[in-house]
Amino acid sequence: MASSELHFLLVPLVAQGHIIPMVDLARLIASRGARVTIVTTPVNAARNRAAVDSAKRAGLDVGLVELPFPGPQLGLPEGMENADQMVDRGMYLKFFEAIWKMAEPLEQYLRALPRRPDCLIADACNPWTAGVCASVGIPARLVLHCPSAYFLLAVHNLSAHGVYDRVGDDEMEPFEVPDFPVRAVGNKATFRGFFQWPGVEKEHRDVLHAEATADGLLLNTSRGLEGVFVDAYAAALGRKTWAVGPTCASLGADDADAMAGRGNRAEVDAGVITAWLDARPPESVLYISFGSIAQLPAKQVTELALGLEASGRPFIWAIKEAKSDAAVKALLNSEDGGGFEERVRDRGLLVRGWAPQVTILSHRATGGFLTHCGWNATLEAIAHGVPALTWPSFADQFCSERLLVDVLRVGVRSGVKVPAMNVPEEAQGVQVASGDVEKAVAELMDGGEEGAARRARAKELAKEARKAMEEGGASCSDLEDMIRYVSELSRKRSHERGTSSTPVPSAAAAELGSKKGEKIEADAALSVQS
Ligand SMILES: *[C@@H]1O[C@H](CO)[C@@H](O)[C@H](O)[C@H]1NC(C)=O
Ligand SMILES: *[C@@H]1O[C@H](CO)[C@@H](O)[C@H](O)[C@H]1NC(C)=O
Ligand SMILES: *[C@@H]1O[C@H](CO)[C@@H](O)[C@H](O)[C@H]1NC(C)=O
Repeated sequence: MASSELHFLLVPLVAQGHIIPMVDLARLIASRGARVTIVTTPVNAARNRAAVDSAKRAGLDVGLVELPFPGPQLGLPEGMENADQMVDRGMYLKFFEAIWKMAEPLEQYLRALPRRPDCLIADACNPWTAGVCASVGIPARLVLHCPSAYFLLAVHNLSAHGVYDRVGDDEMEPFEVPDFPVRAVGNKATFRGFFQWPGVEKEHRDVLHAEATADGLLLNTSRGLEGVFVDAYAAALGRKTWAVGPTCASLGADDADAMAGRGNRAEVDAGVITAWLDARPPESVLYISFGSIAQLPAKQVTELALGLEASGRPFIWAIKEAKSDAAVKALLNSEDGGGFEERVRDRGLLVRGWAPQVTILSHRATGGFLTHCGWNATLEAIAHGVPALTWPSFADQFCSERLLVDVLRVGVRSGVKVPAMNVPEEAQGVQVASGDVEKAVAELMDGGEEGAARRARAKELAKEARKAMEEGGASCSDLEDMIRYVSELSRKRSHERGTSSTPVPSAAAAELGSKKGEKIEADAALSVQS
């Protein structure tokens, strides 16, 4: 197999949290000798260039190509090219329309290449790439999914069995996921799929269709973690499916070069955090972070703070609400000097914004992770063997909680029941009172025999996850199998067309440009970037 001649084109969604994972995938594929090109827009290229450069320095054949973003054609200001730059609903609407329009520059780029790539891998939220592949004649097209296999299968089966239709608009009506490998109960509010919002039906159909017609699916998970869900999903869709993760388990926090330029800039120096952690006993510290999007209401922040204080345990809290919420600011630092920060100063470290998460999770003093259960954070908790206190807020996060607590048994529930938007107004955003926070923290951090067993399971899972990514491990084998499959498919399809190394045909650009996202809800756009 001449994998050195294979060329992969990767098309991430232009949203924070979706590009770096593609760079990670690029590293993995390139480390098998293939050539990889990541396609994005100028602003996103600039933001993520450090990560790509680090792959290049590691001797990998990874390139970054910039396509113009069609935003200005739709009235978006020049330079607005990432989901996190959108400020209102109207902008989101245009933003998704512009993303769908990227089909034109992508097709032009491909037609101008001296040789067509063997395979295009697109984020599941970029279904518009399917038409480009068909029109230009890319031999293989794969879809990369960002959430867990558990979530994908649950949503698939709920749709296939008509459960969503049956409950209609009733978001709270309880149901059990039919024909599912484990017992899973919930409601529409906690089992909502991406693009499952009124107004984006067409986009939803595009996503489903592009997946159903792909040559295969890639998942950021491992068979050790989610084997039964991966296999069931592959069978339900009748697609080849490879579990090639968790890709973070192959990057150590000590690999400073590879970690450079990942995610948001931390608000504190990693050295400060490490020194603080070095002074604490092993597995004594609770790390608290709600990810990049979810904001807790001030009342809930207060309950959480009081519960943490009462728990008496050391903690690091990445509290981004401290930057934007006046009530939270007042809670932390009161005029008379008796504020929360002062009261817990001997054991609580507040980070107002981003904390260096991997540094914290990989430190021996860290013994628990209060997390919003984004798939990113969930995998990082697993890969570092840290048990989780689960506090989901929307989209697939309730499924990650179920997987952590019910299936893998390395988590304790905080008691959050529904997404913030489903909380009745009179609760003022509070779902977990301080007493319940205190109880849950005690159960996670101590919990006697049960707690010790949970900790041991978490360590075992981390070991397995690392092994999966190593030579001969399950995820590594899946990756190699994917590359072999693409190589064969490319050879076969090129023979059929008899155009293996000639320039791509320049047929008319079909109707690609007319695919418009007509009515997009801001919520839907938000829900894709968990
Ligand atoms: C539902 O999930 C099961 C696995 O638990 C799978 O075998 C089945 O095909 C799925 N059902 C449908 C209708 O796709
Ligand atoms: C997920 O992790 C990647 C890599 O660590 C990071 O760049 C990205 O910002 C994270 N996404 C979210 C939504 O937190
Ligand atoms: C998989 O998840 C990890 C952990 O959050 C993240 O760092 C990585 O970028 C993801 N990789 C892919 C290919 O999605």
